[in-house]
Amino acid sequence: MELNLPRKERLGFTPNVLTGDRPTGKLHLGHLVGTLKERAKLQHQYPTRILIADLQVFTDHPNAHREIEQNTREVLLDYLAVGLDPEKCTFFLQSQVPELTELSYYFAFLVSVERVKRNPTLKTEAKMYGVKRMSMGMFSYPVSQAADILAFKATLVPVGKDQLPHIELTREIARSFNKQFSRPIFPMPEAIVGECPTLVGIDGKAKMSKSLNNAIFLSDDPDTVRKKVRRMFTDPKRVRATDPGNPDPATNPVFLYHTLFNPNKEEVEELSRRYRHGKVGDVEVKRRLAEVINQMLDPIRERRQYYQQRPDLVRDILWQGIQEARKKAQQTLAEVRDAMGISYQKLLS
Ligand code: TRP
Repeated sequence: MELNLPRKERLGFTPNVLTGDRPTGKLHLGHLVGTLKERAKLQHQYPTRILIADLQVFTDHPNAHREIEQNTREVLLDYLAVGLDPEKCTFFLQSQVPELTELSYYFAFLVSVERVKRNPTLKTEAKMYGVKRMSMGMFSYPVSQAADILAFKATLVPVGKDQLPHIELTREIARSFNKQFSRPIFPMPEAIVGECPTLVGIDGKAKMSKSLNNAIFLSDDPDTVRKKVRRMFTDPKRVRATDPGNPDPATNPVFLYHTLFNPNKEEVEELSRRYRHGKVGDVEVKRRLAEVINQMLDPIRERRQYYQQRPDLVRDILWQGIQEARKKAQQTLAEVRDAMGISYQKLLS
């Protein structure tokens, strides 16, 4: 992988990965192609930390306390299920590393209110969730995300496309901290976007998302997958199987999913050709798609079950992750306080 960081900015920082998700429910196919696959690859190349952003959930879910523990568990199981390996990855919870909250307050002094107001992702989210009066917590979450990343001196951040403005802000914060306090403490992290940054949902209308009810979850059983695929949006102009259809993946999600999930490229081409000429019905194409998705999900389901049956193991993985993450964050925070002149080596020793 070629990264175009200027030499100077890379110097002295060990390449390492940090990324995370808000635990708002089970993960789905959109997460898989958007970032999980990418992470599973990266874990073999770099030390990898994965943060479950349980505090960030409160930005737009004021009642998160009712379900956060359950959702956190689901997300952790999904990570382990897709093959993120606890031998290679550190899994931890944002709320259990208080240094992150501390660092985000320090960073808040380096960012202007005007700068955050321009963040397009924050604007979209505020609209999407109908946030009328934005809380300070929500307003400042991009800054807190910079703390999540920089507390670990992460150099690589695999995320969905919507997160790019936050990574850009993170780089600005890193640069201005280093400059303001005259110490090269932070690297300039680089975003990595997955093969399919936004996957359209089964409704063919909007990005796959739990709240829009258009998602196929990694933990769906085979029958649920079959049912969901059967009701997928396809070429709306096609009435009979003998009508010529449009298999363009840009407009037909059934073919998009085939392109992404069917390992047999020849079959996909063949189906597209027959579809275009009215020689294969939607029922058949969908039946194959459900099979393909189920085959792909089978090993994921198996691993999920393995961990689900071993709650002690899952707890240990998380505990270890939290300890490791805290240790690293504490080291960084010691450097930060020192740079900011608030380690009080004389006054307090
Ligand atoms: N904002 C991210 C999301 O909703 C979650 C997140 C929090 C994150 N902190 C992070 C992602 C740090 C990458 C790095 O999906």
